[in-house]
Amino acid sequence: ALHLSKGQKPRTQKTAKPKYRSSAWFDARDDPEMNANYIERYLNYGLTREELQSGKPMIGIVQTGSDLSPCNRHHIELAKRVREGIRTAGGIAFEFPLHPIQETSRRPTAALDRNLAYLTLVEVLTGYFLDGVVLLTGCDKTTPACLMAAATVNMPAICLNVGPMLNGRSRGELAGSGTIVWKGRELRLKGAIDEHEMIDYISQGTPSVGHCNTMGTASTMNALAEALGMALPGSAAIPAAYRYRSQCAYETGKRIVEMAEEDLKPSDIMTRDAFENAIVANAAIGGSSNAAIHINAIAKHMGVDLSMEDWDRYGYHIPLLVNVMPSGEYLCEEYYRAGGLPAVMAELLDQGKLHGDALTANGKTVAENVRDKHSWDRRVIRPYQDPLMYDAGFVHLTGNLFDSAIMKTCCISESFRKRFLSNPKDPDAFAGPVAVFDGPEDYHERLATAPIDDRTILVMRNVGPLGYPGAAEVVNMCPPGHLLQKGVGGLFCIGDGRQSGTSGSPSILHASPEAAAGGNLAVLRDGDQLRIDLLKRRVDILVHEAELARRWKESPGAGYLELESATPWQEIFRQETGQLSSGMVLHKATKYQ
Ligand code: FES
Ligand code: MG
Repeated sequence: ALHLSKGQKPRTQKTAKPKYRSSAWFDARDDPEMNANYIERYLNYGLTREELQSGKPMIGIVQTGSDLSPCNRHHIELAKRVREGIRTAGGIAFEFPLHPIQETSRRPTAALDRNLAYLTLVEVLTGYFLDGVVLLTGCDKTTPACLMAAATVNMPAICLNVGPMLNGRSRGELAGSGTIVWKGRELRLKGAIDEHEMIDYISQGTPSVGHCNTMGTASTMNALAEALGMALPGSAAIPAAYRYRSQCAYETGKRIVEMAEEDLKPSDIMTRDAFENAIVANAAIGGSSNAAIHINAIAKHMGVDLSMEDWDRYGYHIPLLVNVMPSGEYLCEEYYRAGGLPAVMAELLDQGKLHGDALTANGKTVAENVRDKHSWDRRVIRPYQDPLMYDAGFVHLTGNLFDSAIMKTCCISESFRKRFLSNPKDPDAFAGPVAVFDGPEDYHERLATAPIDDRTILVMRNVGPLGYPGAAEVVNMCPPGHLLQKGVGGLFCIGDGRQSGTSGSPSILHASPEAAAGGNLAVLRDGDQLRIDLLKRRVDILVHEAELARRWKESPGAGYLELESATPWQEIFRQETGQLSSGMVLHKATKYQ
């Protein structure tokens, strides 16, 4: 092992032949009887005793792709190149599956799987003989689940993203994952297409293997894995179908063997500085609101102190540089060709917005990796001084409705922004009556008939980690048809759940504590006045405290759904999981570091 004084960074120098933890399983000098036991079974598919006892690092490959997980399924191919890289660099590869996590088809929500997959991966990495691990990431929750486990176990680890799909086109227009779904539904509601045409229209957005090709949660989380230093520089944005993707798989396989030799661990890379870099990068790329939950969860498992306020403090004033849907016009193929994340980070580095000396997986610093990698395509990646939007990060809100919530500001329309965020001379906070919905079914049932005008604030409750369970992506709500016809494009939405990373809705999300955890959302009633003051970062119920106390006394369960769980895991999840404001992690898991 490397002997480092505090603050000293491990670099790529080779040490005298390290002794790996796997030797405790396979080195017959230690405990011949047990070793015989361990060795014999790994011979049964063709590995030799010589390989197992070679003293080479044993490298895990976490396979997150399967027939159930189409976004990550191309990893079945890529893993072959990862193996070749591992073998070339002198390691031995062991591929194994992760509990599948598919964002689009998992009921009730894939968010339930993040912590479950995390838990199982920690067991596998701890319980077997691995010396390092390649995390095959991609679809939304696969990336945080893998990084959370790598943080807890703290063994050499590196991410390989599956990569985004190629550009889709529907009826001549760029069709981005997620965004084309919202468009297709709208066209059908307007009667422009029927339901068969809608399926075709939406499916044109899915032309190849890979994950969502917009800056949704998948592209975001993999960009942030790279910003954290946990993936090779420039790797996150390579489209799944490009040859560079397979070549990157090979390079990643080679690099993990070196990382095992250097004993370069997640705790050397995912420092407080690295997390601040991720927050800054997220604002510049127009990243998903879900990033705040996942990045804080990874930090919790790494033992790094990170709060939701930090997203406002370090991220809010960063401009939007990346012109990709849902906040921009293009898709990930253009983003990749324009230089991907290194080009974005080169701009941020020039402005002193990054910790340039943070160490990354390739053994170099952020500054060494990204300096002068500026984009040549300024339509897609803008210079810092000429951004798509100033002040594009998240705002963090508190008040008497919740202790913590966030809002992604780069998708707020110009008029919303003028009114609520960029005119300090007129801090006339927005106040209006609320229409309260208990989950998406209630919303669909009552939207047309509920008293809603252009000042109404739409509230969605009982969709948080405990209420749903898992926290649903449903807070962004559409105004009723009669307002749409009058040209009212959007209303303020607030809720204790989440919204899709591909949604461009200006919503106040992740209200914690949620209604089901005793937050005041539970006693909010239709018609109550709410004041939203984004400048002061507050949301308050304009109802007297005594009245709120009376409501709590009168019906302590007011607004609650019966918390009935459909599976054992749902029940365990509800008992053991925290709120969105603290990353929705398993309480008990964070003490294992
Ligand atoms: Fe899997 Fe978007 S649904 S990446
Ligand atoms: Mg999603």
